[in-house]
Order: sequence, then structure tokens, then C-alpha cells
Amino acid sequence: MNRKLGILALLGIGVLSLSQCRKDAPSNQTSSVGTPYNLQVPTGFPSPNIPADNPMTVEGIRLGRHLFYEKALSGDNTMSCASCHLQERAFTDATGTSVGIRGKFGRRKAMPIFNLAFHENFFWDGRSLTLEEQALIPIQDTIELDADLQTVVDRLSADPLYPPMFKAAFGSEEVTPERIGKAIAQFERTIISANSKFDRVIRMQSGEQFTALEQRGYELFTSDYDPNGGSGGDCFHCHGERETRYLFGAFGRDLQFVNNGLKAVYTDEGRAEVTGNQTDVGKFKVPSVRNVEFSFPYMHDGSIPNLDSLIGFYNFGGHLHPNIDPNMKAAGIGRNWSDGQKQALAAFLRTLTDYEFLQDTAFSNPFEN
Ligand code: HEC
Ligand code: HEC
Repeated sequence: MNRKLGILALLGIGVLSLSQCRKDAPSNQTSSVGTPYNLQVPTGFPSPNIPADNPMTVEGIRLGRHLFYEKALSGDNTMSCASCHLQERAFTDATGTSVGIRGKFGRRKAMPIFNLAFHENFFWDGRSLTLEEQALIPIQDTIELDADLQTVVDRLSADPLYPPMFKAAFGSEEVTPERIGKAIAQFERTIISANSKFDRVIRMQSGEQFTALEQRGYELFTSDYDPNGGSGGDCFHCHGERETRYLFGAFGRDLQFVNNGLKAVYTDEGRAEVTGNQTDVGKFKVPSVRNVEFSFPYMHDGSIPNLDSLIGFYNFGGHLHPNIDPNMKAAGIGRNWSDGQKQALAAFLRTLTDYEFLQDTAFSNPFEN
């Protein structure tokens, strides 16, 4: 063989192995593998945030759902994401501050998981900007799942279930932390709650209507004053836009960080831990009020046990903290609601329960059905 041919042959082998490499896609290459999944966006919702490098596929979602319920993601194989995010509780936790691995107490309450495809930041303080990145944090958190990523990768690689699922989702059997994050994020984006009584009434599709009590509560929620006399709830100033953008207008401050006067002194400083600004002390991501009937106890520290005490808190108006939002009625002003007003607000909040979502088997534990 002359020299030129030899080089060509070598080049040929090079090209061959390159193309084999490509077939066995490197972990960061995810495009054009799997069956594209078309996320159904409910009427009135904004467009979902789906990163270009993590398109949703049927196979990716299936893998993500398994990983969400997979106990191998915890240091001692006892817990999964679903241990703190329970579907029947709108994927939040039944305990105030979530109990992690080996019974260790966290300092914050688990957040509900639904409609996250429409969020731009994650955690009570918004420190994480993508679901892909977020998913790897609890796995390693020493008081959550407390696992070493390499250990998790080794365990999943050795489990006969997973390498074929990674291949179907990402093109090769390789298990990587990045792929774990991507698959879980894909699954989380499918978790949508938009079929409560409230939604059906607002869409005017089903002929369903609010009762007189619910209607009065709805008016309290969405106004500064009660048309029947007295103070409104002002709830819509903070809990509005992302819930039902076309209904509450541009006032909602969902997904922003607000101090609602939960505390006079905050040991957990919330958003200030991310920004370092004193003006952000006590500001937390405004949580969704959808499914509140089941997402108790409430607030970042789970300190409000039930719907009655939640309404009691907003009636009181919050503690006078320097950063408290003007839409609270702090400093002892309060809202001075009658029992009738409180009952009306509670009745309205219960219309936000989406039973279909709470029981949807597409989100349930795949190892049990
Ligand atoms: C030990 C209980 C626990 C476990 C296990 C756990 N979480 Fe969480 N989760 C929490 C807590 C507590 C927060 C709020 C933490 C904070 O704000 O610092 C949270 C917040 C979140 C959020 C943010 C939601 C939002 O609206 O911003 C997402 C998403 C999430 N968890 C997903 C997961 C995934 C995925 C897993 C598994 C890989 C997981 N969690 C495991 C307790 C837990
Ligand atoms: C000034 C903005 C603001 C107003 C007004 C407001 N909220 Fe909130 N709400 C928040 C913030 C911020 C949190 C989270 C605070 C925390 O965890 O420390 C919260 C938490 C909640 C929660 C707990 C959800 C969960 O998952 O823990 C519910 C329920 C709620 N609010 C309902 C209401 C109702 C009902 C009204 C009207 C009476 C109202 N809010 C008025 C900002 C506001």
C-alpha cells in the first residue's frame, strides 16, 4: 500500500469511527431522537418554556416519570422526589418543612409541582433558572436525597430497566447527570393543572356556574374592596396573571418575589439570599393558589396549617416588616372580614381544586400501575 492510500485508509477509519460516535450520540446531543410530544397548552396560558436542547418526547417523559419515582436517586435508596412531592397533595408535601433522608428536617416546605412549564425561576427564592438544572439539586442536597451523582449514574446503569430507556430517549444507553435532569424536566413540564371548577366556569364551556357564595369569594379575591361593603382581598395583585392571564389582567405578580408580611423577623431571608439586597429580605416566590384545598400547610415554612388560618392571616394583614408589600393591610389595619366574607373566600378557593390533575394516572407512580 502506498503512503497516500494508507493515509486515505486511516482517514476512512477515522470517518467511520466518527460516524459511529455520532450514532452513539454524545450525552449533550438530544435532537431528533424519540417521538415528539406536543404539549397541550390550556386556553389563556402563556407559551411554555421548553429549552431548544431538550425537546419533549414520549420516551423522555416516560423516563423522567420513572426517575421522579425512583428511590435509587437517594443516598440510601429509601426516597424519591415523590417522597416530598405527593400527587394527591398537588405534588407538595404533607409536612410543614419537608423531612429528607434519614429523617433530617429541611428548613422549607416542598413546593407544589404543576404548570412549571410556564415558570421562569424555581425554588422559594428563585435561585434556579431551569427545571433541568433544578432537578439535580435535590438529588445532591444533604438533607434531601443526599446522593452522589456518580453513584446514581452507576446504579441506573446497572439496572436493566434504565439503559434501554435512556437509549429510547436520548439515542444511546449512556446514563449521565445531564440526561437525568433533562428527562425529569420533560416529565415535569407535562404536569399541568387547568381543569378546576374555576377554569370551567371562566371558560364558559360546561355551563357550570359559581354558587352565590363562590361568586362573592371570587369578587373578594379579585378586588380592592367588597362590593357588598368592606375590604376586598387584594389577592389578585399578587396571585393572578400566570394563573389565568386573560382573566386577571396585567396586575398579577406571580413568579415574582414579594414580602407578604408572614413574619416580623425572617430567619430565612428568601430572595435576599440570592441577591444580597436588604430590600429583598422576606421576599418569596408568589406560589400558585390553584389546588390550595390540598396543598396545605402553606407558605415557605409551612407555618399556616389550613385554609381557615390562611384566611385569618390575610384578614389580619401581615406583620409590619420594612419590605412588606403595600397590597397587604399591615400595621393592625387588617381587613375586618365578617364570617360570611371568610366563608365566601374559602368557597371560592375550593373551586380551584382540579380533581382530574390530582388523580391523573399519567403523573402517578409508574412502578405501581
Ligand atoms: C426532602 C424533600 C424533597 C425531595 C426528596 C425533593 N424535593 Fe423538591 N422541593 C423540596 C423543597 C423543600 C423545595 C423548596 C426548596 C427551596 O425553596 O429552597 C422544593 C422545590 C422543588 C421545585 C421548585 C418548584 C417551584 O415552583 O419553584 C421543584 C421543581 C422540585 N422541588 C422538584 C423536585 C425533584 C425533581 C426532586 C427529585 C429529584 C425533588 N424535588 C426532591 C423538597 C423536596
Ligand atoms: C402582596 C402580595 C400578596 C397578596 C396581596 C396576597 N398574597 Fe398570598 N402569598 C404571597 C406570597 C409572597 C406568598 C408566599 C409567602 C411565604 O411563603 O413566605 C403567598 C402565599 C399564599 C398561599 C400559600 C400557597 C402555598 O403553596 O404555600 C396562599 C394559599 C395564598 N397566598 C392565598 C392568598 C389569598 C387568598 C390572598 C387574598 C386574601 C392573598 N394570598 C394575597 C403574596 C401575596
